Amino acid sequence: MIRSVVRGFGASLPKRVMTNSELEEKVDTSDEWIVQRTGIRQRYIAGEGETTASLGEAAARAALANAGLTAADLDVIILATSTPDNTFPATAVNIQNRLGMHHGAAFDVQAVCSGFIYAVTTADAYIRGGLAKRVLVIGAETFSRILDWNDRTTCVLFGDGAGAIILEAQEGKGTTADRGVLTTQLRSDGAHREKLYVDGGPSTTGTVGHLRMEGREVFKHAVGMITDVIEAAFEATGTTADDLDWLVPHQANRRIIDGSAKKLGIPLEKVVVTVDLHGNTSAASIPLALSVAASDGRIKKGDLVLLEAMGGGFTWGSVLLRW
Ligand code: ACO
Repeated sequence: MIRSVVRGFGASLPKRVMTNSELEEKVDTSDEWIVQRTGIRQRYIAGEGETTASLGEAAARAALANAGLTAADLDVIILATSTPDNTFPATAVNIQNRLGMHHGAAFDVQAVCSGFIYAVTTADAYIRGGLAKRVLVIGAETFSRILDWNDRTTCVLFGDGAGAIILEAQEGKGTTADRGVLTTQLRSDGAHREKLYVDGGPSTTGTVGHLRMEGREVFKHAVGMITDVIEAAFEATGTTADDLDWLVPHQANRRIIDGSAKKLGIPLEKVVVTVDLHGNTSAASIPLALSVAASDGRIKKGDLVLLEAMGGGFTWGSVLLRW
């Protein structure tokens, strides 16, 4: 049985760090409120010349170097983003060109904070379906460019960055002892659109728009939706929370992360948390967190790793993989 195995990983952050105290100067907020309600202490903000494509390219180059590969070895690039450099062409094609790759195919996937889960699911289907042998999956965002910097209820939450993994077709035995993606679970429900959306777009206002969120409403749904797709992953593979080595959640809010882990009986020592450093980087948050925990030696070859996310749409999903 063909499995999509992680062959390399990488990440990239903008140069500029913005602390909570800097935000105190912009809007009526406090470090104490932000840390207590979200766990966020700082975030990275893209400067001049830093874009979703440039951050994505840097993460891709780091992943290629980590894998010992070049762009010539890739078949497909899938970029998860909601903050493309341009409405079109797809930012993935821009990154493909920046990498000097002129073969294969590149395209964007748009599922807001669940984007990386959707992109890994797509890459896994391409690999298992025999359409590609190696897929570069990137999550890259510049949410700072769609924030209303006068709205304290949203501008303190988000940051910019990019992370990437390379998935490669390898032969497995068809058991949960195999390395690679073991199951993927996707969900969406457009009835929740008004709770988290951007109030502009090419076909409606002709503008880019700003992020709008009813945070309390999103919060109310988050833990239930996350537990749903995690339990579905356990059921599909016959695994349990006890089998997990690491939970790598979307990094939106420390309280959502802790609440979901507690509900599922996953000890906090097994949860990778980077929201304090990065803020919510939407589709980039999971590959950024993976990169941090794999680089510092926490996530090791053979570890059972569960990824989950929930975000705008609503969209939500999980990926269970053996690293
Ligand atoms: N600083 C100080 N006070 C603030 C701030 C701020 N930055 N923002 C809001 N407040 C105030 C509010 O006005 C409110 O005041 P009031 O009681 O006088 O009306 C009070 O703080 C409490 O506000 P709540 O919204 O109830 O605060 P809550 O505890 O729900 O925390 C938060 C807000 C952090 C946004 C939380 O609801 C949350 O994390 N929601 C989920 C976000 C999320 O997970 N998004 C998912 C994906 S994102 C994506 O897909 C793009």
